[in-house]
Amino acid sequence: MDENLKRYIELIPKAELHVHIEGTFEPELMFEIAQRNNVSLNYNSVEDLRKAYEFNSLQDFLDIYYGAANVLLHEQDFYDLTMAYLQRAHADNVVHTEIFFDPQTHTERGVSFETVINGISNALKDAKTQLGISSKLIMCFLRHLSEQSALETLEEALPYKHKIIAIGLDSSEKGNPPSKFFNAFNRVREEGFFVVCHAGEEGPAEYVWEAIDLLEAERIDHGVASIHDETLMDELRDRDIPLTVCPLSNLKLKVVDDLKQVPIKAFLDKGMLVTLNSDDPSYFGGYVNDNYLQTAKALNLSRNDIYTLAKNSFTASFITAEERNAFIEKLHTFDKNFR
Ligand code: HPA
Ligand code: ZN
Repeated sequence: MDENLKRYIELIPKAELHVHIEGTFEPELMFEIAQRNNVSLNYNSVEDLRKAYEFNSLQDFLDIYYGAANVLLHEQDFYDLTMAYLQRAHADNVVHTEIFFDPQTHTERGVSFETVINGISNALKDAKTQLGISSKLIMCFLRHLSEQSALETLEEALPYKHKIIAIGLDSSEKGNPPSKFFNAFNRVREEGFFVVCHAGEEGPAEYVWEAIDLLEAERIDHGVASIHDETLMDELRDRDIPLTVCPLSNLKLKVVDDLKQVPIKAFLDKGMLVTLNSDDPSYFGGYVNDNYLQTAKALNLSRNDIYTLAKNSFTASFITAEERNAFIEKLHTFDKNFR
């Protein structure tokens, strides 16, 4: 790739809108925390663990991902995990990030909601002061669990409402359509949260329709299956519903065989609000800049495409108009001065 475009991608200020904090857990930190908590991992070494990162489907990955999360017990563990991600994102010139967390992965093991959210949010606060990176927190319900469990999790979250901007839906998509959580998301909206939803990753375009029409999702996570439905793409564009696409994730989980098949260019050409993100960077071989770089290379993206993707990331963020304008101004200044 052109050296100049590479530098442009690396340096451009951007927001990341689709990253699971549990998916940023690097093997080195995993072993460190496992050791200090006296818990055993199913692997003998960092190398052994990395070798297991060969996935044929979303479920293959989730089995390892949930296993690794078992070593997280104390507030400090959640703090360290979050701070490590924020430092890494900062190095990629991420200036704003909206992070998912899965409370049920932890509360089901007896770790309290309070431990999880305090550890994460203290790191977010410190990173704002120390690195200048701004952030929001998005709580996800695990869709392989029941709607009742989601409703109970929502109740547990209410005392921490001021720390959570939006609520989403993740985990095993096939067989767990958005409609399964219709009542839970009615409650979510009554409480005034934004709604996001993983849909159209492994599941069909129909699940994206359910997410926008039944759950009234403001943003779709992945959504790549929308490429098979022209009417849906028009609808997403006309309603300004962004997609948070994660190309390296799609490649590693065999949603596509080649990055060339990730429909970024098609979505951009349609005028849809598409963004690039890392999903679970420690498992999928790259952070946000790796996603930009490899996608740009595979799809021959131009400097103008990169600018649009970065701008979309701010347009699609859950921030105030004032914050958005400030970020876009910063982006504009960067672009104007870039040599
Ligand atoms: N899809 C669904 N659930 C997830 C993912 C994903 O890509 N990553 C972490 N949980
Ligand atoms: Zn995801």
